[in-house]
This record gives sequence, C-alpha cells and structure tokens, in this order.
Amino acid sequence: MGRRFGQEGMKVVLADVLAEPLDDATRALTDDGIEAIGVVTDVTDYSSVESLARQALDRFGAVHVVCNNAGTGAVSEGYMWEHDLADWRWGIDVNVLGVIHGIKAFVPILLDQGEGHVVNTCSGNGGFAPIARGAMGGPATAVYPMTKAAVLCLTESLYTHLEMTGTGVRAHVLFPGGFLNTGIWESWRHRPQQYAATQERRTEPHTLANVVARFETAGAHVEFTPLETVAAQVVEGLRTDSFWMMGPPAPSDDVVSKKAASIIARGEPDYLVDVLGKHAGQKAETEGGNR
Ligand SMILES: NC(=O)c1ccc[n+]([C@@H]2O[C@H](COP(=O)([O-])OP(=O)(O)OC[C@H]3O[C@@H](n4cnc5c(N)ncnc54)[C@H](O)[C@@H]3O)[C@@H](O)[C@H]2O)c1
Repeated sequence: MGRRFGQEGMKVVLADVLAEPLDDATRALTDDGIEAIGVVTDVTDYSSVESLARQALDRFGAVHVVCNNAGTGAVSEGYMWEHDLADWRWGIDVNVLGVIHGIKAFVPILLDQGEGHVVNTCSGNGGFAPIARGAMGGPATAVYPMTKAAVLCLTESLYTHLEMTGTGVRAHVLFPGGFLNTGIWESWRHRPQQYAATQERRTEPHTLANVVARFETAGAHVEFTPLETVAAQVVEGLRTDSFWMMGPPAPSDDVVSKKAASIIARGEPDYLVDVLGKHAGQKAETEGGNR
C-alpha cells in the first residue's frame, strides 16, 4: 500500500513495531523516489500511536489516508478452550485495540481537516465467518477471526458516527481477498515479551511453508493474491469512495449469502466452512486439540 500510495504521488508514513523491517521498507520506498518516513510504533500502546500521529503531522502537515493494518496471526493451538490466554490478549490488543487506538488518535485530525479516509484491514476469516477448521480438519485458531469480526463491527460504527457529524471523512473496510504471502503466518517469530506464552505448546507453530504443504497434501492448491492487487483495490476503493474494499466476486460471497439465509431461517450455521471449502458437519481428520 505504501508503495502504491507513493506512486500515486502521496507522501507516506510507514509504521511498525519492528524497527529493522520498517527501516528496510522505508528505504525501499525512498530509493524509488517516494517521499516516505518510518516511525516505530506499537499499536497496542495509545501514546505510541498518538506520537505517530504527531510525527506525521509535524513532517507532512496533514494526514489524508490512515490504514489500520497492523495485525498478528494465529499462534494458538487446539480447541478454543485450550488457547493460551496470552494468545487472546495479544490478538485482541494488536488487531482490535490497535484499530481503536488508530481511530482515536487520527480521526480528530481528519475531522479538523474536514476530509480524509480511514481504512481498516479486515479478513474474510472472521469478517464474514470464522474459519474454524484448519487445513487438515483440526481446529483453527478462534483468536484471529474473532478480532477480524470486531474490526468489521468497529468500521461499521465508525462509518455511522462519521455520517452523523456530516463530515467529509470516510470509513472503509478492506478485505484483501485470498491468501497473502506475508509475515502474518509466522507472527510467533516476533512475539513480544509482554504477551509471552503461559502454556507449553504441544505442537510446533505454523510456518508458511508447512501451511502450504498441508494444503497441497489435502489436495488444495494455494495461490497467493499479489500484494499489488490488494493495494490497487485500496486505491480504487478510495477513488470510488467504497465502504467495502473488496475484490471481484469470490467464493466467500457465498458464505455471506448463506450466513444471511441461516440467520433469517433461524437455521444451523451451515455456512461455516473450513479452509478447503468443506462445510460444517462434514467429517474430517482432526489434528491437535483434545476434547
Ligand atoms: N496474509 C493474509 O493472507 C491476510 C488475509 C486477510 C487479511 N490480512 C490482514 O492484513 C493485515 C496485514 O497483515 P499481513 O498479512 O501484511 O502480515 P504481516 O505480518 O506481514 O504484517 C503485519 C505487520 O504488523 C506489524 N505489527 C504486529 N504487531 C504490531 C504492533 N503491536 N504495533 C505495530 N505493528 C505491529 C508486524 O510487525 C507486521 O509487520 C493484517 O491486519 C491481517 O490481518 C492478511
């Protein structure tokens, strides 16, 4: 997104809790002639996000697009009643409180300007319905989808509250669509001390390579959505002022229709699917987790 925004002529402020990859990413933009700075920021800490907002204003004088995009992935194992409470706290603090901090620190700035956009990154995993079964039919983390459901709800509220003020500031929810080849699959590599695990793991944490291998073994082909496609989706969504920043119709749309039908019919949640597209109720081998 930073690169694409820069190519569109925008000035860019990148923020991340990890200084080294942030420096690399910032340098990659400035080397390409994009005016960009990097600000080490911990979105779980409100004063850190406030400081980010101040530094962005000090440097560039205004803020027009705020992307609440920082996220942490699934590190928990087993059934949800077995998840480490530290996993829940980490996921909620980064993925939910981080977005709340971004809204609280930046929206007043955008309101003073009378214009601007907030883009909150959601996921079909939770935003539509949780993927509750993992690649081989075992339980998938409940932490991540729960946080992404919250991001959608927060963004809907933000949209309404902004509308009520009559401002030109707009809210958008981004569904990147499909799988992205990013660091989120291995978030555990950078687990902060304050969220250190309190339970001993029974299974190895996922790596992107073993997630892909599991899919292939189960007969599913993993294709990653290019990050440029996601960035283009965001730019298009800003241009067309779309609340739903989503790609073209996808199989996940089917989940949305089935979920609505299930609610209206007061039926079973038969829209729940696993990552291989199997519906709830279908038997599958289980991995990890004890009942
Ligand atoms: N990868 C996918 O398939 C996928 C799919 C749908 C949605 N998403 C969402 O996209 C967003 C970006 O994730 P990504 O896939 O690029 O993964 P990523 O791990 O490459 O990027 C997330 C970034 O957030 C940073 N971060 C973590 N904790 C932070 C904190 N406390 N403060 C500041 N920064 C912090 C990480 O250091 C990392 O650089 C996330 O919100 C994720 O949920 C990803």
